[in-house]
Amino acid sequence: MKYNFDEIVNRKGTYSLKWDGGELIKEIGFTDRYDEETLPLFTADMDLPVPQSLIEALHKTVNHKIFGYSIFPKEYYEAIQSWFKNRHDWEIKKEEIIYSPGTVHALNIAVKAFTNSGDGVIIQRPVYPPFTSAIEGNGRKVINNTLLCDENGYYSIDFVDFEEKAKEESTKLFILCNPHNPVGRVFNIEELTRLSDICADNNVLIIADEIHGDLIRRNQTFFPISKVTNNAGHIITCTAINKTFNVAGLHCTNIIISNPKLRKIFSEEMGFQLASPFTIAALIAVYNDGEEWLEQLKEYIDETIEWVIKFLAEKMPQVKVRIPEGTYILWMDFSAYGLSPEEVHERIYNKANVLLEDGIMFGEEGLYYQRICIPSPRSIIKDAFERISKEF
Ligand SMILES: Cc1ncc(COP(=O)(O)O)c(C=O)c1O
Repeated sequence: MKYNFDEIVNRKGTYSLKWDGGELIKEIGFTDRYDEETLPLFTADMDLPVPQSLIEALHKTVNHKIFGYSIFPKEYYEAIQSWFKNRHDWEIKKEEIIYSPGTVHALNIAVKAFTNSGDGVIIQRPVYPPFTSAIEGNGRKVINNTLLCDENGYYSIDFVDFEEKAKEESTKLFILCNPHNPVGRVFNIEELTRLSDICADNNVLIIADEIHGDLIRRNQTFFPISKVTNNAGHIITCTAINKTFNVAGLHCTNIIISNPKLRKIFSEEMGFQLASPFTIAALIAVYNDGEEWLEQLKEYIDETIEWVIKFLAEKMPQVKVRIPEGTYILWMDFSAYGLSPEEVHERIYNKANVLLEDGIMFGEEGLYYQRICIPSPRSIIKDAFERISKEF
């Protein structure tokens, strides 16, 4: 089946955070302006139709007429196992899988389960802001291993700094973001092995947030860190259908923990969790029958990214941006304009009426950056960039 990702699906009036959440978004402080004409491209939530198998599975669930407590059938686990085996050559055992209603929820559980008040948790800024909240919100300390950025906007890991910080007595945990949101790196085998070795040598646990792992450029390969390290006992991985298949509203994250001791601690902190029948049906449908859709989606996203990069090179050459290895996020450096971050914000959010995320939210390293999520019909993305370019 051929999907038409150019189709505009009107999401207004569907309880969409992105398209209906203006009041909340203003309250949180993302923007002062949100109206009928706002183009919201701030969150990792696609405006693209989902796989047909998913729609059919949800219809079938609706037709059951009753939506009671539900169990995870063996098909649920088998679908996860075959997805990761077939796509990433990673063998997962059924008992290693723990359901969580969200990834951020799972990060919070992990921080509480594996660290004590005041302990240090390493993150690599600029990084997805809920990493910081999961640490500080639970009374733990952020240990920042800032990513290094070269003159071409390519990010890499400062291993000397990482090792020093991992060696500190109070450092107990490292939250890895791979593929990295927002800088778009897909870390390679050497990098992942080195991170794992340093953590193992220093008794630091790794929580790998890999929920963007299926959304990489077609010329890239994603390596789950647990696969690379033969399911090393100090690694916990968060996987989700959430980003891959745009089902954030169905709340379906699966945590993979091969070490039985860690699994027990995590499960106890999490408590008994059931999922909705829609969530269970969705996971089985997309992991068993969503591959063709995903390949088409990746092609569409790659082409949108190419369009944006070309547009910026022609119309806004001062914006430094590169094709991310993974994710559908672009991390744009506006520093060459010599404008204050407030002025850049004013022009994009208030004048162009495009809602993005200010880079400062990802750490001080992001002060002069803007983050945009581009998994929308290309006409919306073109409109957004036309509007922005007129203000610069
Ligand atoms: C790296 C990363 N982790 C977690 C999440 C959120 O996941 P969830 O909705 O499952 O909590 C996002 C959403 O953008 C993300 O980019």
